[in-house]
Amino acid sequence: MCGIYGYIGPRNGVKIAIDGLKRLEYRGYDSAGIGCIVDNGIDCVKEVGKIGVLEAVVDGLTSHAVIAHTRWATHGKVTRENAHPHLDETGAVAVVHNGIIENYTELRNKLKEEGVHFHTETDTEVIAQLIARIYEGNFLRAVQQAVLLLHGSYAIAVLHKNHPDQIVTAAAGCPLVIGVGAHETFLSSDPNALAHHTREVIYLEDGEVALIKADETQVFDATQAQISKKTDALLHDIGTVSKGDFQHFTLKEIFEQAQTVKNALFSRASEEYGTVAFEELHLTANELLTIKRVLIIACGTSWHAGYVAKYLLEDVARIPTDVEISSEFRYKNPIVEGGTLVIAISQSGETADTIAAVREVKAKGAYVVALCNVQGSTLAREAASCLFLRAGPEIGVCSTKAFTSQLVVLTLFTLLMARLRHMSKNEGHSFLHAMHELPDQIDEILGHADAIHTIAKKYSQYNDFFFLGRRYMYPTSLEGALKLKEIAYVNANGYPAGELKHGPIALINETCPTIALAGDKVTYDKLLSNLMEVKARHGKIIAITDAGHGALKDIADDIIVIPKTLDELAPITYSVACQLFAYFVALERGAEIDKPRNLAKSVTVE
Ligand code: AGP
Repeated sequence: MCGIYGYIGPRNGVKIAIDGLKRLEYRGYDSAGIGCIVDNGIDCVKEVGKIGVLEAVVDGLTSHAVIAHTRWATHGKVTRENAHPHLDETGAVAVVHNGIIENYTELRNKLKEEGVHFHTETDTEVIAQLIARIYEGNFLRAVQQAVLLLHGSYAIAVLHKNHPDQIVTAAAGCPLVIGVGAHETFLSSDPNALAHHTREVIYLEDGEVALIKADETQVFDATQAQISKKTDALLHDIGTVSKGDFQHFTLKEIFEQAQTVKNALFSRASEEYGTVAFEELHLTANELLTIKRVLIIACGTSWHAGYVAKYLLEDVARIPTDVEISSEFRYKNPIVEGGTLVIAISQSGETADTIAAVREVKAKGAYVVALCNVQGSTLAREAASCLFLRAGPEIGVCSTKAFTSQLVVLTLFTLLMARLRHMSKNEGHSFLHAMHELPDQIDEILGHADAIHTIAKKYSQYNDFFFLGRRYMYPTSLEGALKLKEIAYVNANGYPAGELKHGPIALINETCPTIALAGDKVTYDKLLSNLMEVKARHGKIIAITDAGHGALKDIADDIIVIPKTLDELAPITYSVACQLFAYFVALERGAEIDKPRNLAKSVTVE
């Protein structure tokens, strides 16, 4: 979502901050701005559009203390005025902000009554005006007092013209990381954007406020007492990731999946016993045996991975499993009985709804295992155990390789639970054997990219699609449809094929093609009947199948044949084919694939 960057030190912070913003651009990007200490106060420059536009305008500007922001609009339209930083009416205070201040109308009205004039529609301006109003000479104290009045979520970085050697920053519900350098200090909403400057970082926890200078950082808790914080070490440097010869990061990431699936499997399969061992899972076999129910919480693509896991855990491990969308779940009064294991899935580890849901179940005593791709992320730090996806940085907003890695880790977890219960060693061996075949099978599918491109081109001008599947192929159809919506801006609905006749079939005609995911052997014949119903209504059918051709050949208009695997693993291989289809439709439609409109990589607001 929005991104924050900051610098204080001897170098030109404007250049450093612009570079930092570019590294954050993949998260949110409708406008950007920079605020910096200059001789006579604070200078702010803001522009709508890409960071490149801002970069051109700040050319020649220098400053040793800078705060910067990429905006993903929430309160107020995408305009230069609404871009951050926001100033108070005297121009003494500049604020960049991620999150949402829920009581901003109330605060704004109160300040207006006191005679304060507002210039923008944003909730962030309230923070700047509030700090300026409270300030009586102590910058840190003014920010500490102001944040006590804020309801909602925020990460902020603040400059004051009377304190040119300081940046004050605070966080609650949104990530903020301080990078400790040699005589210089950085801050960012995303640790990955710091790693090329320093690997030493301090994560701000909820309610904490930090006073940052070039040579030192002081952190205070919500009671305003100074606390000592440990520094953590960063591992990845996102700056080294490039598109290589690929036209888009999304395509590159689709093509990385043979390797990322291998990475997710690596050292976790125990060949001798036909089971799985996770180094990062801090639960003993006895503790795993006490689990009576699994509750999965996630959003978007991660929720689809969780939905596949529901089928896996119930079918293979025979453990009752619920899967919930975090944004709905967090406002329930969840029943978390003893014996419930909560699995929270989030590629970024920063999704606000998932983190809030995790905090709620933790408050109810649940043990939380996270599945996450980003070390040091909020979720990875909140959970009792975190199983990492090892997919490497995913830059495309549309999740591809992280999804298949989520499926691999969830499948391994299922195998572990099944082996602890009823599954024999031989069955475990066969299951692992099928999993080890996945990387080659994915390579084979990627080898059909040109053929999939041809089919995608043929259907690229249709505006409505159904994705149909049954059993494991149902959540796979949801994910396939989401890919098409996200990157090609095409209306697509994933549906359980058997449910079509209960309403949606009314939409089927020659203008609404169906992608049939024929990867479930148990329900294969049933799916064929459903497809006959589509055909009878002049619906075009593109079938993805591993079942040779047979009856499908007579029903489908086009067929994508992919390698055969277990039903339980088919969501992985079928998803790769769906990703390629969506990518090529998007390419043919000229959509902006890596950074689709209105979307952000990391959704840090509700
Ligand atoms: C995936 O393509 C989407 N961009 C989106 O649905 C995403 O999966 C969702 O926002 C959850 O993100 P997370 O995995 O980082 O929590």
